[in-house]
Amino acid sequence: METAEIARRFLAFFEKNGHTVVPSASLVAEDPTLLLVPAGMVPFKPYFLGQRTPPHATATSVQKCIRTKDIEEVGKTSRHATFFQMLGNFSFGDYFKERAIPLAWELVTAPVEEGGFGIDPERLWVTVYLDDDEAAGIWRDVVGVRPERIQRMGMDENYWDMGVPGPCGPCSEIFYDRGPEYGADGGPAADEDRYIEIWNLVFMQYERGEGSGKDYPILGDLPKKNIDTGLGLERLAAVLQGVDNIYETDIIGRVLAKAAELTGTRYGDDAEQDVMLRVVADHVRSAVMLVGDGVRPGNEKAGYVLRRILRRSIRNLRLLSGADAFHMHELTAVSIDAMKDIYPDLLDKAQMVHSVIDAEEKNFADTLRSGTALFNRAAERTRAAGGATFSGADAFQLHDTYGFPLHL
Ligand code: SER
Repeated sequence: METAEIARRFLAFFEKNGHTVVPSASLVAEDPTLLLVPAGMVPFKPYFLGQRTPPHATATSVQKCIRTKDIEEVGKTSRHATFFQMLGNFSFGDYFKERAIPLAWELVTAPVEEGGFGIDPERLWVTVYLDDDEAAGIWRDVVGVRPERIQRMGMDENYWDMGVPGPCGPCSEIFYDRGPEYGADGGPAADEDRYIEIWNLVFMQYERGEGSGKDYPILGDLPKKNIDTGLGLERLAAVLQGVDNIYETDIIGRVLAKAAELTGTRYGDDAEQDVMLRVVADHVRSAVMLVGDGVRPGNEKAGYVLRRILRRSIRNLRLLSGADAFHMHELTAVSIDAMKDIYPDLLDKAQMVHSVIDAEEKNFADTLRSGTALFNRAAERTRAAGGATFSGADAFQLHDTYGFPLHL
C-alpha cells in the first residue's frame, strides 16, 4: 500500500468515526518551548492543558515532524528518520482508553477491502504502563489480545511527555513482529528491532513540571482526560510494503535510488555506502520540507538544524561519488515530486526550495575548499612539529566555523 494511501485511509477511518480532519501545522512550532514540531500533538497542546477551548471534541491529522535527537542513528537502523509524518487521532476530554484502544485495533487489523490496513493479528503485540490494569484489561477483554501478548513496561517505554513541561501520561503501544529472521523471540520487551513499534496511544491525563529526562514532578491532573495517538507513517509503510526499512519505502526509496544513480553507486553493494545513501535520502527530504515551511540555513536554532542536515547530505554525496559534484538540485526535484501527492503546495514552492538548497550547496562547497586549505596547513604544522595528533583547537574551528561534519 502506497504511503499516500495509508495516510488517506487513516484520516478516512477517523473521519467516519466522528473526528474532524485537521491539516498539518507548519514544522516551525508556534510553541515557544520548541524549535520544530516533533510530534502530532503539538498543535493541540493548549487544548490538553485547558488553556484554549477546542473547536471540535475529537480530531485527526497527518502531522509533519522533525526529530534530530537521534540523527546519528539515521541510516544505521531500520526506522530512524529526521523528517517523518505522524498519523494521529485526538480526543480533548471526549473519549478515553475504552474507545481509543478498540479503534486503533480495528483500523490496523480490518481487511484492506474494508478500508483497514489488513495486518494479521498474529503479528501484533502490545505494551502498557506498569500499573495500567485498565488498558491491559481493555486489550485482553474487549479487543481479545492473548494475555501473553500484552507486556508491561516502565517509565522509559510507556510514559509519554514532550520533553518539556506540559501534558503527559501513561501510554500503550502496538508492535509488529517482523519475524524470527529479525531477532530473538519474546515480544517488544526482548527486541525492538524485530518487534517494531507502529502506534503509540497516549492517555494524556497529567501535567508534568520542570525536570530532565523522566525525572520530573507530576503537577497534577489535567482538566480532562484526553487521547493523543501517534502512528509513524513511514514505519507502517515499510511494514505494508514488505521492505526492510523506511528508506526503501515508495517515497524515500525514490530519493535513495536517484542518489545511487547520481553518485554511480549501487544500493546493496556495500554496507557503509548503503548507510550514506540512506542518510542522503532521509536528509534531502527533511531539508525540502523545512525549506518549504520557511526555514532558512543559519547558525542557530531551526536554521542550524537545517544547515546541519543539508551539509550532512552534501558531504555524504561527495564521499559516495568521490568527486566535488553538485547533486542537490536533482535530488530536491525527485523529493518534491515524491511528496507532492501529500503536500501539493510543494509544487508552488519548488522554485524557492531549489534556490535555497542550491545556494547552500554552493556556499558549503566554498567553505569546504577554504576549510580543506586550513586543514592542510594545520596538518603540515603538526607534522613539522613532530606531532601525530591534530589539535583540538583546529578541529573545533573546522567544525564550528567551517561547518565540517565530525566524520570529515
Ligand atoms: N505524542 C505521542 C508520540 O509522539 C503519540 O502521538 O509518540
